[in-house]
Amino acid sequence: MSVSTDNQITIRTATEADWPAIQLLDSTGFGFHPSSADKTLTRTLYRPEDIVVATEGDQVVGLAIEFDMEITVPGGNQLPTRGITWVSVAPTHRRRGILRSMFVRLHHHIASTGAPLVALTASDARIYNRFGYGPATVSESITIDRRFADFRPQAPTGSGVRITDAQTAATLLPAIYDRWRLVTPGAQRRPQAHWDFTFADPSDHRAGASGLFFLTHPDGYVSYRHRSDGSDSVVDIAEFVAINDDAYAALWRTMCGLDLVTRIEAEQHPEDPLRLMLTDYRSVRTTRRSDRLWLRIMNVPAALEAREYVADLDTVIKIEDPFLDSGGTFALSIRSGKATCRPTDADAKITMPSDILSSIYLGSHQARIFAAAGRVQASAPQEIRDFDFAFGTTRPAVMGYGF
Ligand SMILES: CC(C)(COP(=O)(O)OP(=O)(O)OC[C@H]1O[C@@H](n2cnc3c(N)ncnc32)[C@H](O)[C@@H]1OP(=O)(O)O)[C@@H](O)C(=O)NCCC(=O)NCCS
Repeated sequence: MSVSTDNQITIRTATEADWPAIQLLDSTGFGFHPSSADKTLTRTLYRPEDIVVATEGDQVVGLAIEFDMEITVPGGNQLPTRGITWVSVAPTHRRRGILRSMFVRLHHHIASTGAPLVALTASDARIYNRFGYGPATVSESITIDRRFADFRPQAPTGSGVRITDAQTAATLLPAIYDRWRLVTPGAQRRPQAHWDFTFADPSDHRAGASGLFFLTHPDGYVSYRHRSDGSDSVVDIAEFVAINDDAYAALWRTMCGLDLVTRIEAEQHPEDPLRLMLTDYRSVRTTRRSDRLWLRIMNVPAALEAREYVADLDTVIKIEDPFLDSGGTFALSIRSGKATCRPTDADAKITMPSDILSSIYLGSHQARIFAAAGRVQASAPQEIRDFDFAFGTTRPAVMGYGF
């Protein structure tokens, strides 16, 4: 089925013949020319029937891709999730409602799949709240002057790290990643095509830095690149995966043992313990804080019943969802970590829009902060305190890989 948004624009499912135009629109929107490795990755991951295009005559002027994903939620369940990527509207056709029309169509399809979650990453934080999406994982960019990174004696010593060549890394990393993502809220199942792209390590994705180096541990790994910045020798960590504290400490100790390196730059969760392992708390400097994974809850009861909680709770929440009209008022009862969530006619004790519930869902944000910002309402402050307490998590939410 195709839908016309105005006299000229048609919204429809893509066909094989649209690929060149899709590729051209994406490179124009995001400002890069895809290499043959990029094209292979794209064509392996996405099928034309998963792509919505907006066309005007023979031109593709809008596009969005929907694909299958699986995301771990607090407690370790994996939820079927639809991913959205490559959202792009031609600079010649901005602000005429093309994105909105594509999203209406995509989300009707997503609703029909029954997936309780949708995930995307956002180039601009102002776009997606209106569609019920909220930032659901937080990450910090950090920089460490490695020359002064001394570990406290109490920090786990950690051992078992090995220098690993790319060929061996390709046989070890996917299994370690998979064990990690199954215990990490926010982490996704990772397709083999992504791994193939990672290990192919195309030179036009290195931003002038070296090819990838790998360190492995039985319960974790690091991949990183070397580059120069003036007279400084810098290491950029591409991926740091640690299933437990020993692997975390062992890998960081090894990274900080790269004697000829001045600075290490990485992305980590704000709760990562590196700072607390070092004698100089200030030697890890946060240079940026950003959102990574954005989520939209499609089915409130299914999503809330799928995760685990850390305290009992009885409340009534009203979720407003003007975009899809899939909100409502729900009685939420939590006992021994498990929730039951049912529609109710009772008066709401806490009211919030769908994007905020989606932000809170993996544990990265608290209702009380949104309440302070005037974006969550409660019948009494204690309601919010109890809600936040129950929605706490024991492991920080982290996005697994960029998409
Ligand atoms: C972002 C982009 C897809 C928007 O497409 P568009 O067709 O112009 O968007 P629409 O006209 O359908 O706008 C939908 C709504 O989002 C708002 N909006 C869209 N882009 C916005 C932006 N960058 N900042 C703030 N609001 C934005 C519009 O004002 C509109 O609001 P309303 O419907 O509530 O009145 C397009 O500008 C683009 O392709 N940008 C470059 C690539 C990119 O950033 N893609 C997103 C990747 S995550």
